Amino acid sequence: MLRGPRRRLPPAPRLLLPLLLLLLLLPGAPAQPDPGPARPREQPGEARSGPAWPAFRGLRERLRAAGALSRRYWALFSCRVWPEDCEHDETPAGPLGWDLPLLGQQYLDILTAWYCSFQDCCGGGDCRISNNFTGLESDLSVRLHGQHLAQELVLRAVRGYLELPQPDKALALSFHGWSGTGKNFVAQMLAENLYQDGLRSDCVQMFIATFHFPHPKYMDLYKERLTGQIRKTQESCHQTLFIFDEAEKLHPGLLEAIRLNLKCQAPEDHRSESPRSIFLFLSNLGGNIINKVVLNLLKAGWSREDIAMEHLESSLQAEIVESSDGAFGHSHLVKENLIDFFIPFLPLEYRHVRLCARDAFLSQELPYTEAALDEVAKMVVYVPKEEQLFSSQGCKSISQRIKYFLP
Ligand SMILES: *[C@@H]1O[C@H](CO)[C@@H](O)[C@H](O)[C@H]1NC(C)=O
Repeated sequence: MLRGPRRRLPPAPRLLLPLLLLLLLLPGAPAQPDPGPARPREQPGEARSGPAWPAFRGLRERLRAAGALSRRYWALFSCRVWPEDCEHDETPAGPLGWDLPLLGQQYLDILTAWYCSFQDCCGGGDCRISNNFTGLESDLSVRLHGQHLAQELVLRAVRGYLELPQPDKALALSFHGWSGTGKNFVAQMLAENLYQDGLRSDCVQMFIATFHFPHPKYMDLYKERLTGQIRKTQESCHQTLFIFDEAEKLHPGLLEAIRLNLKCQAPEDHRSESPRSIFLFLSNLGGNIINKVVLNLLKAGWSREDIAMEHLESSLQAEIVESSDGAFGHSHLVKENLIDFFIPFLPLEYRHVRLCARDAFLSQELPYTEAALDEVAKMVVYVPKEEQLFSSQGCKSISQRIKYFLP
């Protein structure tokens, strides 16, 4: 599941060490590193940003830090400053990700903080926010199949929110539909286009109800941890993305904790940008009603692409609120209208499954024939019994199936 750059640290940053040491001597300091008391203050014309002397006094500390910079610290330091050039596994997990001797860690912090004070740097992960709406639009129209409603709604909602000058709340989107229709896929596309590191970004957190919160008896603990984790993520990133998969299985207590985090999102200070959070809830809730509406419209001669939100909206919302499946529909999250958009994912037809098969061949760089695409699409079960119109599994596990059809 790890994607993105996994290059080894190129030699270039290593060669930068001498340069870095040289740079250590430059900013804010007099032209030569002689701290002799006789030296007058800086020339008036040279006065740069901030007071020069405290910076200069820090110089000796920095030099000592640089001296202590063994290869290992250098590797760590460069990972922090140029994370894209770094093996993912080597990236320290947190501020104390590696078991460094305390002193080394301090040196490292001093150096990193100093370097980042005059360079664009990724201390909090914020500079890895990419918000590539062109990429998102293209992914939603090229890689996602059969979801014209989600395609349009997701882009509009997310772009509209992220372009607001002063959002005063989080954006909450709820994805509904059968499994395999693309809900997770769209969540992943969002992560990939909003953050350079995609799902791996520190600003993106994904929770799967049955995996992260399996035992009802630990709910208080989960609740505390979840709240803590949301807060922590929001503190270190001004734009965060939280994904809750299997939202219909979330315990009412957790939903309540999420609601509180959704609701109170006042900007803490006015000088910085308002924080932005996007919450995605993925569930199968309402999948049946979506399928029913779509089936009836198709049988009445409609073309799939002419199905609009207004055909689905009211019955979908009613179904969610009335559903006896889990707590999501009854939660205050839904009842207080904290969900901004309920986004339907339509059941996939034969032609969509075929497209998924084609994508699977292409992504594995395997040759395929039109006949092979048909073969793969025919392996899937279609429902309802009579019409045999919708893939019961959507495009799920198509990529595993293609290996039987290699020429
Ligand atoms: C945005 O995404 C598109 C398509 O994936 C890509 O070609 C483009 O380089 C990206 N732009 C930036 C600024 O990353």
